[in-house]
Amino acid sequence: MSDLFSLAGKQALVTGGAQGLGRMIAEGLLRAGATVAITSRKADICEAAASEMSVLGRCIPLPADLSTPEAAVDLVARYRNAMGACHILVNNAGKTWGGDIDNFPDKAWPGVMAVNVQTPFTMVRELLPELGASATADDPARIINIGSVAGMKTERLNAYSYAASKAAVHMMTRDLAGDLAARNITVNAVIPGFFPTKMTAHMRDDDNVDPGLLAHIPLRRLGKPDDIAGIVIFLCSRAGGYVTGAQIPVDGGVVGCG
Ligand SMILES: NC(=O)c1ccc[n+]([C@@H]2O[C@H](COP(=O)([O-])OP(=O)(O)OC[C@H]3O[C@@H](n4cnc5c(N)ncnc54)[C@H](OP(=O)(O)O)[C@@H]3O)[C@@H](O)[C@H]2O)c1
Repeated sequence: MSDLFSLAGKQALVTGGAQGLGRMIAEGLLRAGATVAITSRKADICEAAASEMSVLGRCIPLPADLSTPEAAVDLVARYRNAMGACHILVNNAGKTWGGDIDNFPDKAWPGVMAVNVQTPFTMVRELLPELGASATADDPARIINIGSVAGMKTERLNAYSYAASKAAVHMMTRDLAGDLAARNITVNAVIPGFFPTKMTAHMRDDDNVDPGLLAHIPLRRLGKPDDIAGIVIFLCSRAGGYVTGAQIPVDGGVVGCG
């Protein structure tokens, strides 16, 4: 039992791991014993975050703007040089755009689809040699794609490209899971509800959460770091080795109780 959730000896890459949900995930993986590489668009933010997280374990900064597939190819090349093996990929970096439907701009589509859907796919394709090399039937390599409740049910957020991109992430997860099972690579989507990050800052006034939002969440609170870290540690550890193609809401019941 004691090592059921251990990630000792594993190496992970978490995109967008310097802040927000990605940082909660990276810190959880470090606490469970993994070595973790993180990305951020800004080199100074990436290096500062990695340095702060190094008290928890080995954390490597790899700055990257993942707006293009070429950037994802370049990131994987730098990961390969810095880390070598890869047991865990967490595609967490994400972008949103909110706007009234009457004026929702065309430019709100390509960037969101690129960061949320296309580069996560390119990350998977480019890391397949490393993921495949570390995978065994008893201990598969793990890919986790961060989706969203907005891609699973109508949330009325006026984030049209974002919701569509996250629904695409959920389907891409199942598609990849089917194709990669034979290589002993699991692929799952973790589907957050509402967590207090920059992305949801407009729904809060500092720590005061809109009561309407809380009323919408059956468990009546926002997500906490342990909520998101716990599910990722589970999926990446021996405990989660038999789970693939799943779409797992971590949302206080928004999807399941709706
Ligand atoms: N917060 C929530 O309630 C919630 C709910 C459902 C799903 N999610 C998902 O969770 C993930 C993390 O979001 P968050 O809530 O932590 O929001 P956030 O604080 O705004 O973080 C977004 C993350 O994505 C990275 N990112 C954005 N654009 C990028 C680009 N072009 N290239 C590389 N990295 C980029 C950011 O990195 P830097 O800014 O450091 O460059 C940051 O780490 C996203 O996929 C989001 O859709 C969040």
